[in-house]
Amino acid sequence: MNIDNKIAVVTGGAGGIGAALCRALAEKGAKVVVSDVNIDAAQAVAMDIGGIAVACDVSRESDIQHLIRETESQLGDIDLFVSNAGFGVGEPDNVASASNDVWQKNWELHVMSHVWASRALLPKMLERGDGYLVNTASAAGLLVQIADAAYSATKHAAVSFAESLAIGHNDDGIKVSVICPQYVDTNILAVPEDARGKQLQGVITPEDCAATIVNGIESETFMILTHPEVAEFYRNRANDPSRWVKGMRRYRTAMLDENGKFDFRKVFNI
Ligand SMILES: NC(=O)c1ccc[n+]([C@@H]2O[C@H](COP(=O)([O-])OP(=O)(O)OC[C@H]3O[C@@H](n4cnc5c(N)ncnc54)[C@H](O)[C@@H]3O)[C@@H](O)[C@H]2O)c1
Repeated sequence: MNIDNKIAVVTGGAGGIGAALCRALAEKGAKVVVSDVNIDAAQAVAMDIGGIAVACDVSRESDIQHLIRETESQLGDIDLFVSNAGFGVGEPDNVASASNDVWQKNWELHVMSHVWASRALLPKMLERGDGYLVNTASAAGLLVQIADAAYSATKHAAVSFAESLAIGHNDDGIKVSVICPQYVDTNILAVPEDARGKQLQGVITPEDCAATIVNGIESETFMILTHPEVAEFYRNRANDPSRWVKGMRRYRTAMLDENGKFDFRKVFNI
């Protein structure tokens, strides 16, 4: 897709990958709607890039419907909608120990928000025979994020929903991409305070992540891998799932601290 002059909406656009993507899309000439539950921060990004800010909590279908209506009334039909908002809190104890509320929030933010956006956008996009849905999943949606089963399971579901969208509607003129980053230096990462902003092993900047996403959108690539090594891990998992689980067990054990908690200092080689 040629991004110039297109109307683009990014959820979770006030910080991290979303904010970097809003800036990168605006640089390519898009009219950008910066949407976030944090409206003050969204407004600051929008002001910077000459876009507009619309408040939206993606865990509510009615908020997503309002975001779409508001964009259409202020700017016109939406060409590109990026469902990017997400969160991660990990699990307090064993793999099933996260509360029902945490599981529910993972489900709403990482899966249902993508369904709700598509449900609201598809009728008009199908009528026009044009439109682009971009959903942020994660490398955890292809592999597993250790110490966060709810995040991993719902990101897998996000990849699956994007596959269904592409298979179901590419022939109707609807373009679909799913973004599967590994570690990006944003607030979601539990990077220790003293290591923030430093070059950490395997961690890329939101700006580099956004640049790869923009390339993927321009080339209409279905699966956008901001960390190329993830393709190899994904192949290994598919080739021999039992061997892959064994390898991940070894990796998990090596990354635990003395209290048995996942230690991001080890993950990032700090
Ligand atoms: N940072 C990483 O390492 C990484 C890796 C893989 C995937 N991701 C995914 O990328 C996406 C962006 O994450 P990030 O790393 O930029 O995190 P971030 O925490 O920096 O940004 C997330 C943004 O989403 C907003 N948000 C949170 N809950 C919301 C809600 N209910 N409604 C609307 N907005 C909400 C926050 O206010 C924030 O601006 C997420 O889907 C995340 O799962 C991140």
